[in-house]
Amino acid sequence: MSTITTERLILRPFTETDADKMFKSWTWDERVSRYCRWHPHKSVEETQVLLNHYLQKAKNGFDFRWGIELKSDGSLIGIIDVVDFSHDNRIVNVGYNLAFEHWHKGYATEALKSVIKHLFNNGVEKIIAEHHIDNPASGRVMEKCGMRFIKLSKTQAKFDSDTLCDVKVYEIIKTVEE
Ligand SMILES: CC(C)(COP(=O)(O)OP(=O)(O)OC[C@H]1O[C@@H](n2cnc3c(N)ncnc32)[C@H](O)[C@@H]1OP(=O)(O)O)[C@@H](O)C(=O)NCCC(=O)NCCS
Repeated sequence: MSTITTERLILRPFTETDADKMFKSWTWDERVSRYCRWHPHKSVEETQVLLNHYLQKAKNGFDFRWGIELKSDGSLIGIIDVVDFSHDNRIVNVGYNLAFEHWHKGYATEALKSVIKHLFNNGVEKIIAEHHIDNPASGRVMEKCGMRFIKLSKTQAKFDSDTLCDVKVYEIIKTVEE
């Protein structure tokens, strides 16, 4: 499984002992889930179910999901992953969540930049990301990583709902220099 190291972060695969860290850090938090499809978890058991799914996918060879760890103290502060991909893995859609207390420090940008580079070095040719129109900070992260706004679209607002919400879609295409 691949680990990516940046100036301040280690992006590493999830492990069996992560549920508690994820729950205490971000999966409980409505401020983090507000503009995402998932709902805040009510208990660590709910996070454990999600983690088990991640571990199973990783066991089956899925290598495009990382826990974001701070180099300074080893704490797990978020997740960045490929949330959807084309049948040949050449076009992927990425997502990310950071614990609220670690917002506004440039961590999401640092993580996404490194993941874009990693994906382009591993066969991916186009990376897409989208964010709720009321969540401009996420769009700013995409822009700072060289992604280009391509269109407005609509998508499912929450996993258990038929309600749609407006999203902005960004992309970046691999160039010879990547
Ligand atoms: C979106 C999120 C990942 C950003 O993480 P972060 O580490 O704070 O992002 P960064 O610090 O790298 O960059 C944020 C940028 O957005 C800007 N920003 C913050 N709030 C903003 C707002 N309301 N409007 C416009 N820009 C905003 C910041 O100023 C910064 O840009 P700058 O460096 O040019 O000043 C984080 O807030 C988060 O996890 N949110 C909840 C989950 C989520 O929304 N995930 C994305 C789903 S698409």
